[in-house]
Amino acid sequence: MSGKKERNKERREKRLQEISLLRTIPYSDHQRWWSQETVAVVTGANRGIGFEIARQLAGHGLTVILTSRNISVGIEATKALQEGGFSYDVHQLDILDGESISAFVEWIKQKYGGIDILVNNAGVNFNLGFDNSVEFARQVVDTNYYGTKNMIKAMIPVMKPSAASARIVNVSSRLGRLNGRRNRIQDATLREKLTNLETLSEELIDKTVSSFLQQVEDETWQSGGWPQTFTDYSVSKLAVNAYTRLVAKELCDRPQGEKIYINCYCPGWVKTAMTGWAGNISPEVAADTGVWLALLSDQAITGKRALLNAQRLVKSSTIANRTTTIFRPQYGWVSRFSSTNISNAQSLEMDLSTEESKRRLFNMLIFSISFWRGFLELDLVLGKWVEEHIYSMDENGIKALVHVLDLENPDLRRWLTGQERPPEAVSGNPVFSAVQGKVLKNLNHSAPETRATPGQPCVRGWDDFQKGHDVPITGGEKFLWRNLNSILE
Ligand SMILES: NC(=O)c1ccc[n+]([C@@H]2O[C@H](COP(=O)([O-])OP(=O)(O)OC[C@H]3O[C@@H](n4cnc5c(N)ncnc54)[C@H](OP(=O)(O)O)[C@@H]3O)[C@@H](O)[C@H]2O)c1
Repeated sequence: MSGKKERNKERREKRLQEISLLRTIPYSDHQRWWSQETVAVVTGANRGIGFEIARQLAGHGLTVILTSRNISVGIEATKALQEGGFSYDVHQLDILDGESISAFVEWIKQKYGGIDILVNNAGVNFNLGFDNSVEFARQVVDTNYYGTKNMIKAMIPVMKPSAASARIVNVSSRLGRLNGRRNRIQDATLREKLTNLETLSEELIDKTVSSFLQQVEDETWQSGGWPQTFTDYSVSKLAVNAYTRLVAKELCDRPQGEKIYINCYCPGWVKTAMTGWAGNISPEVAADTGVWLALLSDQAITGKRALLNAQRLVKSSTIANRTTTIFRPQYGWVSRFSSTNISNAQSLEMDLSTEESKRRLFNMLIFSISFWRGFLELDLVLGKWVEEHIYSMDENGIKALVHVLDLENPDLRRWLTGQERPPEAVSGNPVFSAVQGKVLKNLNHSAPETRATPGQPCVRGWDDFQKGHDVPITGGEKFLWRNLNSILE
């Protein structure tokens, strides 16, 4: 392993150890800083992740104010929550409507005197699967970025001073990562300016989103070097992430007793209306990290920025930083071939009744392979197989496919390549068998030196040849092929 890789690995492991410790915070009795007097506001809480964040916060004993832009829907949601035995309050709030925000702030001041926690959850996205329309770009940017900003600006003055400090949590997305390997702004100078706290400013963020919206209007955005997936949504969340870091910097000098901690996190790909219920984790799971961030005790907040693989977040913990960006996993933290996965597959809305509903479902499934599973070589094989077969599958076939898509790498990789024997439930799955047959056939025809033996360093990846990296790749988890094309055939 090269020195750099080793250092990265060490850093990651150290971080994970820290995280394991931090995960116990704040739920142990002596860390618990909140009470029923602690007031938390959740935006867009009438459904989805926001609803679940509100439910979990109330479950921890806080007073939760559920807000909804449509008050009657909000009241219905509150009734559903009250059946759980906790007390909630509800108020109308449209994060794009200045009057609605002012009325809410006045109400809060009069009824509660202020708040301790703000969860900016309300958001919109109008694309599914591979769709990448910018028809609603302005609404997306306005709601996700400017709406979040409106709320932060309006609520900071009513955040109660306290020894435990106040907190803001922004529900963001990994699609808005500035320096992700894929789906990022192409302009390296702009990325650097947005990353560097010395050059980051509200004007810069506003200018960036305005320039995108202007290009949308001029119909030139496609050559503008913007993120390629869910472009409008990615730009909006990128702005949220950058703004979170900026506000964190501005707030960090506040005196003890008046501190406000701000974080953002990605809940993962979640089964909510936003994804057409096609995500791979439940709103309960998606809410968990947000709730954890909202309840972190201040001793855990260290002021560094972190980008975490949230699979570990959930298994061992999350992170505790004043300017944390937490990314939950897109797959994998739900146990691999558990009953959960099976019920996920069954609860996936499988409407095959019309051409349009089929198109949306297939689009979503193909998308989930290539995007959420990470573009690994095997995912390409799987993706190609699915593209060829999905259109002729019946409902049972689709269910079998969804089960396979729920399997976690690297297990799936090892099973498909015959490195390990899969559990019976997997080997009996017709989609798995078909894809495995294809992989093994191609592997058998490939040159022996292109294959890794279990426990041995892997051979070079095809892209390393393309990049001209002439060094052996080691590390048992990676399974790379020199001759990807032969596998894809
Ligand atoms: N689902 C995912 O896979 C995923 C992944 C990453 C990040 N996220 C983020 O998680 C958050 C919650 O998403 P979700 O999946 O729970 O979506 P959802 O079920 O569509 O819920 C979105 C919520 O936001 C509300 N909202 C939209 N515009 C609003 C406005 N102007 N004022 C007030 N409320 C408004 C909606 O209210 P109405 O009911 O009135 O429309 C709804 O309550 C969003 O910020 C989203 O970007 C979701």
